[in-house]
Amino acid sequence: MVFLQNQIVMITGASSGIGAACASAFADTGSKLILAARRYQRLQQLADELKNKYGGSLQIHLLQLDVRDSLAVESAINNLPSPWSDIDILINNAGLSRGLDKLHEGDFQDWEEMIDTNIKGLLYLTRYVVPGMVTRERGHVVNIGSIAGHQTYPGGNVYCGTKAAVRAISEGLKQDLLGTAVRVTSVDPGMVETEFSDVRFHGDEERAKKVYQGLTPLTPEDIADVVFFCVTRPSRVNISEILIVPTDQASATLVHRRS
Ligand SMILES: NC(=O)c1ccc[n+]([C@@H]2O[C@H](COP(=O)([O-])OP(=O)(O)OC[C@H]3O[C@@H](n4cnc5c(N)ncnc54)[C@H](OP(=O)(O)O)[C@@H]3O)[C@@H](O)[C@H]2O)c1
Repeated sequence: MVFLQNQIVMITGASSGIGAACASAFADTGSKLILAARRYQRLQQLADELKNKYGGSLQIHLLQLDVRDSLAVESAINNLPSPWSDIDILINNAGLSRGLDKLHEGDFQDWEEMIDTNIKGLLYLTRYVVPGMVTRERGHVVNIGSIAGHQTYPGGNVYCGTKAAVRAISEGLKQDLLGTAVRVTSVDPGMVETEFSDVRFHGDEERAKKVYQGLTPLTPEDIADVVFFCVTRPSRVNISEILIVPTDQASATLVHRRS
């Protein structure tokens, strides 16, 4: 088992959902947390909650960061204060879906937001963080993919494309890091109840609620639990990919609803 004492864990998209749950999961392990997202106030609120719960000695560094901005990512990583610069675990979680339109009726802005965040943002973080891991001969990159990277569903087109890209990028990164000690994992969830559907439907809460109606979705904590498991295996163990779905979900298109 790998112990997390003093390990620096960077989580993108920590202001909500799976990212925030990962922050909580790591908060009482003695690790030091770098939490990044665009909504700084939400990060601040989370940091305060975690310090109240786990004690003032918990070390948290907050970064207001839009992962789509390559220069901002470069500057954020290269200018980390020295006690924070040697990132041990990078959790590339920031991501979103926008819309559920048919491809031939799709919205360019929605497409660009998904591609820029889910693919390019993840690439920028990886590009700036992983060289240090290679030099230090330790590190772990956890990409949050999706069942959508394994199977498509109607209207999922571009989102599914971005998550298929994440899957390929995780596989490619693992190949490129072969011979180093750096590990790569893709954690690929099915339905998890977070702000994901609110964001997908541009704040239409009624429509978002219907996504989970009559079934029991995963919680963000379920995913954080799996991430935690993956990074605490012995250093010889690389869990490359985990697909995790609710008991009420069999595939991207097949769910069981009770009402
Ligand atoms: N929920 C599901 O059913 C599900 C299933 C499979 C995979 N996933 C994946 O899980 C990951 C987390 O999603 P979630 O379900 O936890 O949704 P969420 O509650 O909406 O959280 C998404 C997080 O990503 C951050 N984010 C979005 N765009 C960003 C940007 N440009 N720069 C920095 N941070 C950004 C958001 O923070 P700010 O808005 O503050 O920047 C937020 O913290 C995503 O990659 C998603 O694709 C979710």
